[in-house]
Amino acid sequence: MDLSEIVKSAFEKAFPGEDFSFVRVLPATDPRFGDYQCNDALKVAKKLHANPREIGAKVAAALAGEPTFAKVEVAGPGFLNLTVAPDWLNARLAALDAQAACGIPQTGAGKTVVIDYSSPNAAKQMHIGHIRSTVIGCAIDRIFRALGYRVVADNHLGDWGTQFGILIKGYRECLTPEERDNLTVANLEKCYVLSAAKAKEADGVWKEDCKRELVKLQQGDPENLALWKRFIEISIGEFDRMYAKLGVRFDTYRGESFYNEMMPGVVTRLREMGLAVESEGALVVNLDAEKLGVAIVRKSDGGYNYTTSDLACVESRVREYDPERIVYVTDARQQLHFKQWFSIARKMGYDKVQLVHVPFGLMSYQGKAISTREGNLIKLDELLAEAERRAYEIVKDRGGTHELAAQIGIGAVKYSDLSHDPITDIDFSWDKALALEGNSGPYLQYAYARVCSLLEKSGKVGEWEGGKVEAASGFGVVEPVEKRLALALLEFPGAVVRAAEAYKPSVLADYLFQTAQLYSSFYQNAPILKSEPAVRDARLRLCALFGKVLRTGLNLLGIETPSRI
Ligand code: ARG
Repeated sequence: MDLSEIVKSAFEKAFPGEDFSFVRVLPATDPRFGDYQCNDALKVAKKLHANPREIGAKVAAALAGEPTFAKVEVAGPGFLNLTVAPDWLNARLAALDAQAACGIPQTGAGKTVVIDYSSPNAAKQMHIGHIRSTVIGCAIDRIFRALGYRVVADNHLGDWGTQFGILIKGYRECLTPEERDNLTVANLEKCYVLSAAKAKEADGVWKEDCKRELVKLQQGDPENLALWKRFIEISIGEFDRMYAKLGVRFDTYRGESFYNEMMPGVVTRLREMGLAVESEGALVVNLDAEKLGVAIVRKSDGGYNYTTSDLACVESRVREYDPERIVYVTDARQQLHFKQWFSIARKMGYDKVQLVHVPFGLMSYQGKAISTREGNLIKLDELLAEAERRAYEIVKDRGGTHELAAQIGIGAVKYSDLSHDPITDIDFSWDKALALEGNSGPYLQYAYARVCSLLEKSGKVGEWEGGKVEAASGFGVVEPVEKRLALALLEFPGAVVRAAEAYKPSVLADYLFQTAQLYSSFYQNAPILKSEPAVRDARLRLCALFGKVLRTGLNLLGIETPSRI
């Protein structure tokens, strides 16, 4: 039975007739005092106007003879310090090991979540700034899938807007015929820059031409539409090359253009509901009551904007997928935008679907702000190639392949982001990302590979396929170093749930790092292969469970787990 349930029953036995549904058992904050603790005697004392220590003592007495615990102590103002019995612990380890996906609860079964992430703007190359949404979004995606949710991973491309007028004009006038024939995203970016610069010329002729091209596109002119389609296809092809390297895949690529025709309808509804009103030629929703200012939903020139498009998008997603929630992963500068339109969506009646914005902080590169001016707006392609190159330098002397280098290099880039709370500003540093010691991707991958090699060396388990260790031997946790690791392993499902609830893959990353450190001290302090057979087998079993948890956890973060480094 669950520890909280057991202690709750003891409270009920000691104080019949009271409600103890709030009673929780938590991992001990300090292992010197026990394995778990329950601090709820203090709450009960307040409710019953009694001395918390006495309450603690009564509950401890009610727990006497409970085989789950080897020791129950009342400490301080009435904390219950709980030490579990080895049998309980070993049985729980076996149960965790036997469960699919290391015991991750299927709380999402039957529910749908749409996760909107990466979402770069078309006709531009992906650069270092696109890493965060892609990597954080992908981890959240994997975590929700593991919890049993049906996930719709949607890449909400920026594939519509004024930039296409500039691009079409630039394509026709700024590119050579060869460049037009072998169109790449790099060429598109180049012609955009040239054309945008010309659009700033004082006579305004170029700018007018760009506008005309845009209007033609919007009106469905076949030639411009075909060009636009080609730009998008080329962009997606290029993005997909990055996603393949990053191990990211989407279920749909519905860009802003997909919602284009739905926008007038949204505005009509906003009007009819009395939510949108005319203001200086524009149509706006006043959100002053919530201190969110005023959101424009139709500009004075009749055009729609980002807000209108996200409103049309939510309508479409609710209609099509009926999701329990929709998660948007973008940089923190878009917070007001999301607050505004979430509020409008709720007023429109979309109050059953949970709308969640996961904002992330800025990233700097090697201590410098990322900007074109700093000259470090590094292309994602180059960043990933550099990661592979540097990782290859590390593994080549041990006979590592380029494939292994890619797994390590890309894992390092991802982990250096995922190990931080998304909302914090982070700095990307090669030394830190690729460090073999400390809180890094390579450190965790290396810990995993060490487990694999240990199990292989033991001969007991033959070819170890990441978790399939001969279950002949049971768990036999005895020593404190083993116990610390064992208790941590039991927390894995909880760590996954907490990461999902907070939309913070960093919760899982922290858990994995701490657990790997516990493994490391277990490994250093408890002999394994040299122990007598019963102890050796039990310890191997614990190692294998650690390996399985680490592998499952890293895979949830989108990080590969090579078995040999
Ligand atoms: N394309 C946008 C950008 O580059 C992100 C889109 C996020 N998703 C959304 N539904 N607004 O910032």
